[in-house]
Amino acid sequence: MKYYNLVMTEEISEVKLPFEEKIKTKGWTYVSPKKYLELHKETLKDGFWLSLAQKLDWFKKPTIEKTEEKRFFWKWFPDGVLNMSYLCLDSNLKTRKNKVAFFWLGEDGKEKVMTYGDYYRLVNRLAYALYHKFGIRKGDAVSVYMPLIPETPAVLLALARIGAVFSVVFSGFSSQALHDRIIDSKSKLLITADGYYRRGKKILLQENVRNAIHNTDIQNILVFRRLGEGWEKGEKESFSDEILDDTSPSIYFEPEKVESSHPLFILYTSGTTGKPKGILHDTGGYAVLLYATMKWVFDASEDDVFWCTADVGWITGHSYVVFGPMMLGLTSVMYEGVPDYPHPGIWWEIIERYGVSIFYTSPTAIRMLMKYPDEYVKRYDLSSLRLLHSVGEPINPEAWTWFFEYVGGKRCPVGSTWWMTETGGVIISHTPGWKLVPLKSGTNAFPIPGCSVSVLRADGTPADAGERGFLVIDNPFPGMLLTIYGDDKRYVDTYWSRFEGKFYAGDYAIKDEDGYIWVLGRADEVIKIAGHRIGTYEIESSLVGYEGVVEAAVAGVPDEVKGEVPVAFVVLKEGVSPSQELKQKLINIVRNSVGAVAVPKDIFFVSKLPKTRSGKIMRRLMKAVFVGKELGDVSTLEDEATIDEVSKAFYEFKEELKSRSSE
Ligand code: PRX
Repeated sequence: MKYYNLVMTEEISEVKLPFEEKIKTKGWTYVSPKKYLELHKETLKDGFWLSLAQKLDWFKKPTIEKTEEKRFFWKWFPDGVLNMSYLCLDSNLKTRKNKVAFFWLGEDGKEKVMTYGDYYRLVNRLAYALYHKFGIRKGDAVSVYMPLIPETPAVLLALARIGAVFSVVFSGFSSQALHDRIIDSKSKLLITADGYYRRGKKILLQENVRNAIHNTDIQNILVFRRLGEGWEKGEKESFSDEILDDTSPSIYFEPEKVESSHPLFILYTSGTTGKPKGILHDTGGYAVLLYATMKWVFDASEDDVFWCTADVGWITGHSYVVFGPMMLGLTSVMYEGVPDYPHPGIWWEIIERYGVSIFYTSPTAIRMLMKYPDEYVKRYDLSSLRLLHSVGEPINPEAWTWFFEYVGGKRCPVGSTWWMTETGGVIISHTPGWKLVPLKSGTNAFPIPGCSVSVLRADGTPADAGERGFLVIDNPFPGMLLTIYGDDKRYVDTYWSRFEGKFYAGDYAIKDEDGYIWVLGRADEVIKIAGHRIGTYEIESSLVGYEGVVEAAVAGVPDEVKGEVPVAFVVLKEGVSPSQELKQKLINIVRNSVGAVAVPKDIFFVSKLPKTRSGKIMRRLMKAVFVGKELGDVSTLEDEATIDEVSKAFYEFKEELKSRSSE
């Protein structure tokens, strides 16, 4: 295996404790995998996380690391008292009042620069208004349906200041998805914006919001004006400028002192069955994990300019656009638009414009941008960059190499950080804690300090080096979800029961002979479309919602840019004929009920779906047929089926697809 340690000049033999040393940027120094794993062992002892937690600015510092209230329900730093808005704002005021918190750039070229002082004032006013005008109190759930505008972090911080629990719904999701999440979280207030720009078009949100709030508990809607048009004020609706005008610019709203395990937010994500899961996160554990990973994984410090390109609707946007960087008082960048609009060099232009030093993005974006001539990258001065990371899906070696060579100029390490909505922050990285481990493209590398991971066989025994198995986290860690909102049983069943007492992540992975982890992709019926997590179930249930459809199955198939895209196989009712119009109709149904991100690349009409005897649809087999795999590869595809069953289903399904496509 090739190591890319050409940029690393010096192997470190003496390594200090985390936080005490910066990763050297010129002439990278590194730690060998062996040494790292040796040091790592030391961090798995009790008390490690508590000593790190002490570094945060608590109202009351914790003295207890964790307690297990009941089996699998941990409270991290249970006697600690804090407030996330205080950590991100008040704690930064003394030294960073006029430091830029965000350089925000709109797709239309509009720019807004906000300092920590600006956010502090806005958040105090907002919190005051939310409390007095809308009666929001500690523990109340509030849905936030906002695009990436400079006010979005302020909204989240204002809610955190009150101790309310926010539930952000990605602004690209449909009104149905928004409706379901409002109902599940029992939100009384919805905070949104009039719209945003996408590829030069104005996307208006009013219709989606209006359709989403029927038969919910929503009593008020607060609207921020990004476009300044397209929202006709109606009943229960207020514009943010109106409510802010009623507050004094210097108002102070005292942050609620919350216990460490007080929930900060719910974020809905896809699972294998049923409705999306509301992943509930605490405050203190989450804050400690973010603080630690900002230091370890991102090596962030005062003079860095940080750019995480995620939307705030996903966990990456929560952790590494808003809370992680703001807790550290960093200057960050936020860009409203897509990677290649208004021109394919816009991201590189932004890096040059603001002098970005740490850049965090997704393999999908890299693959999209590497399709354009290299001139678009070369045109800009990217010498400010020093560290590059990707997230969301496995990074293929071609994308890694392009990112390393063209964007990082062979100077900057490129890592693929593995984590998920449930973990709250990065768990596996090439820059896990002390320095950098030698780079291997396509790998995720090593777990961060204080966290141990394993790759297990289906029977729970450790897989051999190079053998595919299931990725688990061996021990509880701060930042991990508290539970699935309103469904403790599902939380225990999903994460802690597959491999008794270990956190099951739902991914296939390999550990290689050097101990590097390679995450291969989901082991369940979740697909990653452009890095976004969508359950096949969600798309299927919207398809069967159409009266002419009896059954539907969705499989993720490889896509050059998006990594994976869904294709759907649909069984129609007797008397309903397949047609192009029907296909289009079904595609629109998915767009309206789940969102544009989930639209199938194609829909195939078939007479039956391949199933195991117990009735489980063999989605992996369907995918294998679709991508033209041969049966040799198929025997391992379905855990619950016999080889005979799989091969029969394989040939039948293949024949049917062939005959249908020649129809
Ligand atoms: O399959 C893994 C993949 O994304 C899943 C988690 O998705 P989500 O909760 O939406 O969070 C994404 C952003 C943290 C994981 O189960 N995944 C995430 N990062 C990587 C990855 N797969 C491979 N390499 C990664 N770096």
